This record gives sequence, C-alpha cells and structure tokens, in this order.
Amino acid sequence: MADAIAVEGLTKNYGSLAAVDNISFRVPAGSVFAFLGPNGAGKTTTTEILEGLRARSKGSVQVLGLDPWDEGRPLHRQIGVIPQDFRFFEKITPRESIDYYSTLFGTHSDPAALLERVKLSDKADSRFDTLSGGQKQKLGLALSLVNDPRICFLDEPTTGLDPTARRAIWDVVRELRREGRTVFLTTHYLEEAEILADRVAIINHGQIVAAGSPAEIIDRLGGPARLRIVAGSDVADFVRSRFPNEVRREGDHIDVVLRDREDALAILEAVQESRLAWTGFTTVRDTLEDVFVRLVGRMDDGVLKTSDGTTAEASA
Ligand SMILES: Nc1ncnc2c1ncn2[C@@H]1O[C@H](COP(=O)(O)OP(=O)(O)OP(=O)(O)O)[C@@H](O)[C@H]1O
Ligand SMILES: [Mg+2]
Repeated sequence: MADAIAVEGLTKNYGSLAAVDNISFRVPAGSVFAFLGPNGAGKTTTTEILEGLRARSKGSVQVLGLDPWDEGRPLHRQIGVIPQDFRFFEKITPRESIDYYSTLFGTHSDPAALLERVKLSDKADSRFDTLSGGQKQKLGLALSLVNDPRICFLDEPTTGLDPTARRAIWDVVRELRREGRTVFLTTHYLEEAEILADRVAIINHGQIVAAGSPAEIIDRLGGPARLRIVAGSDVADFVRSRFPNEVRREGDHIDVVLRDREDALAILEAVQESRLAWTGFTTVRDTLEDVFVRLVGRMDDGVLKTSDGTTAEASA
C-alpha cells in the first residue's frame, strides 16, 4: 500500500528547544494512525508541519506525495483538519459554517448530511457561541470533511467529550477508514488509540520512543500476562506452594504471573481440585496505557526505551 504520509529525519527547533527531534515514520494510505505522547511532546508541532501550517527546521516530509510547505495549495484541497482547540465565528450556526466552508473550497456539501454524520443535526441552527464544548468539536469534525479529504488530521478530536459523544466520533473515524481515507489522529486517550488505530507512534520530548500496531507494542514492551483469580489469601498461599510463578494479592483477587499459556490451565485445575473457594477468573494483559505510562515514566527517570526495545541512557 502506498504511503499517505512519509516523514524522514524531521526536526523542528524553537530557539534552543528541539520540539521535534529527528523523527521518522510512515502512514500507509487508508489506515488510522494515532500519534501519542504527553503534553509538550511535539504532537501538534508535527501535525501542523504535515498540514503545511508550520515550517520545519530539517528533514523530509511528504503528504500525498507533496511537500506540505512548498506545495501547500494543492495539498490543502485534499486534506481535512481539526486543529487542537477548534474555534469558529461566534454568531454563525453549524449549517451556515458548512455552507461557508463549501464556498471557500468550491464544493457542494450538504450541511444536513454532514451534521447528521457527526450527530449534530439538532444544533444545525444554533449559534456557535451557544454550543457545548463537545458540540463544537463535532462541528470541527464536520467542517474537516467539507472538501471530501483523502487525509483527515484530527488533533485531539475527543478531548473533553462525554463517553457517548466520544463513541460517535469513533464511529465517524471508522467510517472514514472504511471509505479508504487516511486518518492522522492525536489523542491522550490511550484506549481510544488501541481501539481505533492500525498503527501508533509514541513521542516523548520530541523523539519517537515506540512505534507499531498497538498489539505489537504491547507484545514487545508490555509485561507478562497474568491469571487473575477472584479468591482470598488461602488460594494465593496454595498457588505459591505448588507453582514457581510469582503471585500478587490485590484487593479481592490474586494475580498469578504467567510464563506461558499452559500455566493458566494447570493452575486453574489445581485450584479447582484443592476445593478452596474462588468465585471467578480472567486473564489480564498490559494495555497500551500501561506500556505508555511505563515508557514515558522510565524516560523521565533517565532511561530511554527506543523503538526496537533496546535501552539507552537518555543523555545519549
Ligand atoms: N510557537 C512556538 N514557539 C516556541 N515553542 C513552542 C511553540 N509551539 C510549541 N512550542 C513548544 O514545543 C513543544 C511541543 O509543543 P506541542 O504543541 O507540539 O506539544 P503537544 O505534544 O501537542 O502537547 P499537548 O499534548 O499539550 O497538546 C512544547 O515544549 C512547546 O512549549
Ligand atoms: Mg497538542
């Protein structure tokens, strides 16, 4: 599959600060890519360079085969953008703003259909300054679709949304992907990235510290799977006495750290035969959020985890 976005050695300096520090990544056309990282990591800076809104200091960037800075005009016709903290004219309604954007782009968008798509039909004729935060975000998403874009850049489109509104946005993202569009998303909701994204990159202090599909990253950098048994300390003691596995007791359950898949079956069978009381079990794995918190935390402690899983001193 062709790359919708190809970035090689991208750097952006603000004075002495390397806000983006020699990063490289690719986004295949038709996929959802989530760009993750703590506040100030360099996500918006990178996003705006890809959109052609900021100049880069170094490196090469291709978006739909174009250089966003030198070929902004043809690029802007083909991309949709929701900036972080989307704002708009206060006195204008969603229906009017879509008409306005359509005129700017010379397209013939149907405001009713676009507003239905983002579940904002009931506010079609309300002034922007009367919309809630989530409704404004939804309007931003609708506007980013006015020009039928091949790539949608969504910078924190779900920040501050209630769970239902967030899911409505997820549905739109899935639909955009089904239609063959590319979605470049930044988010602080790791669960959202895990659910929606084909590939993610985690950026910290301007550097990419992990990249791949959420499952690959969890496999490579996550801790071992655990068998969680809802049971008391007698079961914990029993498992410890029979198996070499590490056993942790937390609240109403115990976690047995698994070495391989057969472990879980053998342990459950032994617990069942012991006739000790237990009320349920499940296996648990690290989430992308667990991996993220560990990676970023470790980096801030001075140890840098690189994308191939090796470690190096952060000063290197
Ligand atoms: N115009 C600017 N001039 C100087 N420094 C800037 C400018 N824009 C961003 N920075 C700095 O660059 C770094 C990266 O900022 P950026 O907005 O890209 O972070 P982010 O990952 O989007 O963070 P957030 O999650 O808070 O949105 C920060 O340290 C920020 O203070
Ligand atoms: Mg940002």
